[in-house]
Amino acid sequence: MFIRTYGCQMNVYDSRRMADALATVGYVGTDNAAEADCIILNTCHIREKAAEKVYSELGRVRALQATRREAGKDILVAVAGCVAQAEGEEMVRRAPVVDLVIGPQAYHHLPKLMAQAEAARATPRGRAGIVATDFPAESKFDYLPDEVTPAGVSAFLTVQEGCDKFCTFCVVPYTRGAEYSRPAAEVLAEARRLVAAGAKEITLLGQNVNAYHGDAPGNGEWGFGRLVREMAAIDGLHRIRYTTSHPRDMDDDLIRAHGEVPALMPFLHLPVQSGSDPILRAMNRKHTADDYRRIVEKLRIARPDIAMASDFIVGFPGESGAHFADTMRLVRDIDYAQAYSFKYSARPGTPAATSDDQVPEDVKIERLSELQALLAEQQTKFNRKFVGQRVPVLFDRPGRLAGQLAGRSPWQQAVHATAPADWQGKIIEIAVANAGPRGLSADESAAA
Ligand code: SAH
Ligand code: SF4
Ligand code: F3S
Repeated sequence: MFIRTYGCQMNVYDSRRMADALATVGYVGTDNAAEADCIILNTCHIREKAAEKVYSELGRVRALQATRREAGKDILVAVAGCVAQAEGEEMVRRAPVVDLVIGPQAYHHLPKLMAQAEAARATPRGRAGIVATDFPAESKFDYLPDEVTPAGVSAFLTVQEGCDKFCTFCVVPYTRGAEYSRPAAEVLAEARRLVAAGAKEITLLGQNVNAYHGDAPGNGEWGFGRLVREMAAIDGLHRIRYTTSHPRDMDDDLIRAHGEVPALMPFLHLPVQSGSDPILRAMNRKHTADDYRRIVEKLRIARPDIAMASDFIVGFPGESGAHFADTMRLVRDIDYAQAYSFKYSARPGTPAATSDDQVPEDVKIERLSELQALLAEQQTKFNRKFVGQRVPVLFDRPGRLAGQLAGRSPWQQAVHATAPADWQGKIIEIAVANAGPRGLSADESAAA
């Protein structure tokens, strides 16, 4: 079994859980697509470019399949994730190589559906063309095996899924379905298993992770702030992060947790999308630019060193030069440590896509490069402040150069250091010698 993952961290988490589910029926993972008897593409539909990748990848899978067949073997092909949910039947028609199209809320049916797809291969028709994109009444989380494959020192854990906010540009409420929070006891049990398997850092995931309101172990519900505090009590868990949060769900308890819970890392990805009130209204974000400024102000009172990150969309329908100038002003006011920015991409089925006020491509390109220049400048400035300081780094992967390891600082910066191999998986304090737009380095000579 070979799984290729596109899109957000939630897909990374889902891919691991799909592998866990298929392991119970005998599938074994491989990193080499050419030797796999089953290929799963876990896809993303967020922007047009992301979705297009799937069909070109399916072309490559078809070529691979032809080679396998010459050797007397075969490949089962499944498409999962948000493109699967959005395309459904259409995908089976357009890409005959696909045996199974499975939406993100149906993954608990995966072992059964794969068996059906495999059985169909032995029949004259040869291909099942199964489409599993209905939103089931039950939760997929109730059917996952308790066994978790070790997820490394830095693990993802989905606590909330789906979205009821319906921002007018976004496909997620359609591809992931309604908002759902996992019961707190289930989340804590999974976190303990991850820590027992070696995780030192856990990133709690959700499309609106801070909208979390899961059943409490006894009675009632826990909000996200409470969940974070309970997570922090897990022995051996040194770092807690969460993503992605929505400004509207940034309540006072969670803001206080940033000041009170040492394991909660001083970094917050809080997407604002735009700094213009009329555009925020048209996006259905349901907050103003000043609401956002006030939230960040409170966060900085609770945790003065908190590093802020965001997502931005430029060229949303109706965005004028003055609206865009308000976004630039907000960026200057907040002073970001990190950010992602995108040109608006019209997504089928979303309200903004049919607006007759679309912004021309050349204007989008110009605004994006202006915004990205400012964000890069802020990010470099943020990183340079650390030169000469000592920072604790969780080393979790090999670095760019031989003999180097890479990891993350508490502020989510990538950090490179020439280090003995046995530092991998450990939190070690290093002295920052160098900093650039992409991160920090402990090595004098190597650029960060
Ligand atoms: N749940 C998160 C965002 C999930 S999508 C939130 O509410 O902020 C990740 C990012 O993709 C979004 O923050 C947005 O900046 C971007 N995005 C979503 N739809 C888009 C579209 N149609 N065009 C361009 N960017 C988009
Ligand atoms: Fe999409 Fe908005 Fe929901 Fe985020 S809050 S997932 S941007 S609809
Ligand atoms: Fe993409 Fe779906 Fe995540 S559209 S960003 S994979 S929720």
